[in-house]
Amino acid sequence: MDIKKTTDLSWDDFDELRDPRPDSNDFDAVVEQAISRRGFLGGVLAFGSGALAMGSGMLGATSARAQAAAFPFEPIDISTDFEIHVPQGYQWKPLVKWGQALFSEAEGAYSPETGVPVEMSDKVFGENTDGMELFLVDGKELVAVNSEYVNPKINLPASSEGVPANADEVMLLKNMQGVTVMEIADNGSGYEVVLDSPFNRRITHETQMTMDGPAAGSDLVKTNADPEGMNPKGTMNNCGSGKTLWGTYLTCEENFNGYFGTTGEMPEGEGYSRYGIGAEGRYAYEKYDPRYDLSQEPNEPHRHGWITEIDPSDPESTPVKHTALGRFKHENAEMVQAEDGRVVVYMGDDERGEFIYKFVSNGTWSDGEPGDGLLSDGTLYVAKFNPDQTGEWLALTPDATGMSMEEILVFSRMAGSKVGATTMDRPEWIACNPLKAETYCALTNNKNRGLKPNEGGDETPVGGPNPREANNYGQIVRWTPENGDHGAIDFTWDLYVMAGNPEVHDDAYAGSENVTAGNMFNSPDGMAFDSNGMLWIQTDGDDSNEGDFAGMGNNQMLVGNTETGDIARFLTAPNGAEVTGLCWSADRKVAFVGIQHPGGAWPDGEGKPRSSVIAVWREDGETVG
Ligand code: FEO
Ligand code: CA
Ligand code: CA
Repeated sequence: MDIKKTTDLSWDDFDELRDPRPDSNDFDAVVEQAISRRGFLGGVLAFGSGALAMGSGMLGATSARAQAAAFPFEPIDISTDFEIHVPQGYQWKPLVKWGQALFSEAEGAYSPETGVPVEMSDKVFGENTDGMELFLVDGKELVAVNSEYVNPKINLPASSEGVPANADEVMLLKNMQGVTVMEIADNGSGYEVVLDSPFNRRITHETQMTMDGPAAGSDLVKTNADPEGMNPKGTMNNCGSGKTLWGTYLTCEENFNGYFGTTGEMPEGEGYSRYGIGAEGRYAYEKYDPRYDLSQEPNEPHRHGWITEIDPSDPESTPVKHTALGRFKHENAEMVQAEDGRVVVYMGDDERGEFIYKFVSNGTWSDGEPGDGLLSDGTLYVAKFNPDQTGEWLALTPDATGMSMEEILVFSRMAGSKVGATTMDRPEWIACNPLKAETYCALTNNKNRGLKPNEGGDETPVGGPNPREANNYGQIVRWTPENGDHGAIDFTWDLYVMAGNPEVHDDAYAGSENVTAGNMFNSPDGMAFDSNGMLWIQTDGDDSNEGDFAGMGNNQMLVGNTETGDIARFLTAPNGAEVTGLCWSADRKVAFVGIQHPGGAWPDGEGKPRSSVIAVWREDGETVG
């Protein structure tokens, strides 16, 4: 594969290059199957205009539209421009932009022409903002926020054509990823970053970390630089986030595979292909840094793809990679508590046909206690969804998988395949309703559904929570654990929404009944509940506004009422951008929203596109959401 081309690709297209999909697409069969599954939509939901094909009995029972949601804003129209749009009565402004100084020594480091020089690259806000959480520490508001990946063409000199030519350029790209911890404060004219706050910190590919849990110290994670396998360096491709009950940050390592390549032979082992690790890295790091060269460090990729815990209150703290939570392309980590006090973490693996997991600790947690050891000792489960709207969590144990515990954790995908987990349509963010025991997962899309197995050879049948072949719109599945206990093995599920286009289709691709011409969207990705139990949905999809996507406009953030099913559009992003990452100020009067990879010179209006976090607030000073 040509590295010059791979730097330009989206992660989807990069995967496609390694794993192309077949051409066939039996559209009629899809619709037939999807509609015949209408029973599972139950409750308030039915397909959109496709509901006509189901008979009037279905329509009579489903009155989502009749129960108008009381959204505290007037829903907005789509946009196709290079601006942010919010409802009337709301305002927004940037909180922090790629390249913005966190420390005064880096002030002025960012240039609209050349970006950031390597020597200042770990003292500024990174690129491609993603998951984030807010922490209140000693009365100060701290935001921990991920910088998911880099756009080499934006960061490197134009002459490079987006390919690093030396170790310094590799270091620059590496430093633009990772995590930022920053103090923010409202100085009377809105929130700003507190320059030189003692809490400000960058965590990058270079930050020293530790590992805990059963795979820490195993032969699978030992390297020349770390023969004990206990002290990995760096975190990368930090996608979604999580917040522990004890007030620390969870950063989720997603597409780590693309950073590794080899200057010699590919090492043996099915784990490489299952995780999309190939001979040629996406960014050519392996040519300038032996850590990324599989011929020298075949185990280095096994030290990435974990949930990593960071204590934002202590800038000297060492981040910890928790192997007990499994290794895959982690989207986010949603922590709740079981009835008996054990800690439960729900996690999605964002790849076509991969799985949904949950970790349950052995120990219990009580309010006010630290979380010491809870995330290093427990059981990792993978989800099985049955067609009859029931499901169960399958424990990944040596007995069940025939694998050692170390292998189960390092190669969790393979363990999931062994026990027959359900292949899903790219699980992105998972969010738990704070008002009742109910969990939602955004299944963003899956063009391979029904057409092609996953990389482990598991079939991807159409049905259950993945009801459409070549699913280009996505859906949100939700489940309720038995007896309302997140520690339970059994659950029941339904679909909260199937995205679709009722203006273009009159079948299952029109979407569920709560999708209308006025709120349609595709590819749900980020999700978070506010404390009122409203579900905020962010999209990362096709913003061409053409064909199947006509009338959907740019990527957006919507709000869903999970009782009535109603969904309303709250914000639209600049063309080219995805909306990802959401948290609130401590008083909930300001929402912070991530705008990643804008397509134009946003938000400065000139120079380079700058991924940024924005603040959104109500002009009347009331809470947002
Ligand atoms: Fe980084 Fe799956 O989104
Ligand atoms: Ca995402
Ligand atoms: Ca996505």
